[in-house]
Amino acid sequence: MLTDRRILLVIGGGIAAYKALDLIRRLRERGAHVRGILTRAGQEFVTPLSVGALCGGRAFTDLFDAESEFDVGHIRLARDTDLVVVAPATADLMAKMAGGHADDLASTVLLATDKPVLLAPAMNPRMWDNRATQRNVAQLAADGRRFVGPNEGEMAEANESGLGRMAEPLEIVAAIEGLFAKPAASGPLSGKHVLVTSGPTHEPIDPVRYIANRSSGKQGHAIASAAALAGARVTLISGPVNLPDPAGVRVVRVETAREMMQAVDRALPADIAIFAAAVADWGIDKPGAQKMKKDRVGPPQLPLSENPDILATIAGRKAARPGLVIGFAAETENVIDHAREKLRRKGCDWMVANDVSPQTGVMGGDRNTVHLVSEAGVESWPQQTKDAVARALISKIAAALV
Ligand code: CTP
Repeated sequence: MLTDRRILLVIGGGIAAYKALDLIRRLRERGAHVRGILTRAGQEFVTPLSVGALCGGRAFTDLFDAESEFDVGHIRLARDTDLVVVAPATADLMAKMAGGHADDLASTVLLATDKPVLLAPAMNPRMWDNRATQRNVAQLAADGRRFVGPNEGEMAEANESGLGRMAEPLEIVAAIEGLFAKPAASGPLSGKHVLVTSGPTHEPIDPVRYIANRSSGKQGHAIASAAALAGARVTLISGPVNLPDPAGVRVVRVETAREMMQAVDRALPADIAIFAAAVADWGIDKPGAQKMKKDRVGPPQLPLSENPDILATIAGRKAARPGLVIGFAAETENVIDHAREKLRRKGCDWMVANDVSPQTGVMGGDRNTVHLVSEAGVESWPQQTKDAVARALISKIAAALV
């Protein structure tokens, strides 16, 4: 909840500005008071009228607007808030912030504020990758500005994809809740970076079809959440799931196994890595650019190629291997024997083995029965909720670190 938290939302000029409207609703649903500022470019995408209506007040647009200066004034706008959120944070707005410019209301308020600032960047992947933007991002991070996203995925422009999509409104809300949450500075994992993979991967066949599996991501997300509550800095790399982002966790959304591998590489180094995702073992060699038509030449042949084994790759690294690497073994028979074999084959330190046969209801369900397998032996835990499994695993990890 964000009851009575005051949030100043700066809306930059990008196609993602429409998501800022939903963000306002989500924040107000959670009890926050929201004020909105639109840049001139922002007003090309959403109107001050809609922003004002959703905020339940007026939206602010001009630095030298006698009425708003009389009303509030830019200095009060900058100070009478608990947090400033910039969404979308465009390349231009970030460049201005990094350079300390103040030539309109948004940039002036951002320069004048003494409150934490959270940025949700959104731009074309090439603009994001540009060295100028990366310099500005590094500068802003060094200045103490916080970031949520950007995410991987399709862009508004046709045939463009990559890193640059603005984080979804609920991800931004989770990041805001994380900023307001009391830091668990004394938690057993404080000072540690924990990386978690979660959910299934989707391997595209063509633009509308994909190969997937039944993983819901509940267990991986619960682990990320438990690690954050234990004070860790957590990066959660998630395949497509239908779950809200856990509070206080940085979430990177991916679709395919290859994207997950890349995102894991980018997120390292980590002290602890937990691979709870159900990664597809195979991907389609060349997904069709257009939807395959049924009536062509009968059922298609789908040549598959093996995906990278993320767990085995990271566990087998000599350099920058996380100190503790934990895998999950999803089995339908001989659970413990298969898990032992996987532990050795993949070179991880612990395997959390679970029986995912349909009759167990583990896939998609809320409960899990697991066995913790390591070279030291096997510990079988009673059936419990996935949240309880997550907390127990985090306690084990904390105990192993001392
Ligand atoms: N895993 C991974 N990358 C892959 C496949 C699996 O990181 N390409 C990880 C999973 O996240 C999990 C562990 O490896 O932690 C075991 O996954 P599982 O699907 O049980 O093992 P597989 O290697 O796919 O073995 P099999 O399909 O033969 O059971």
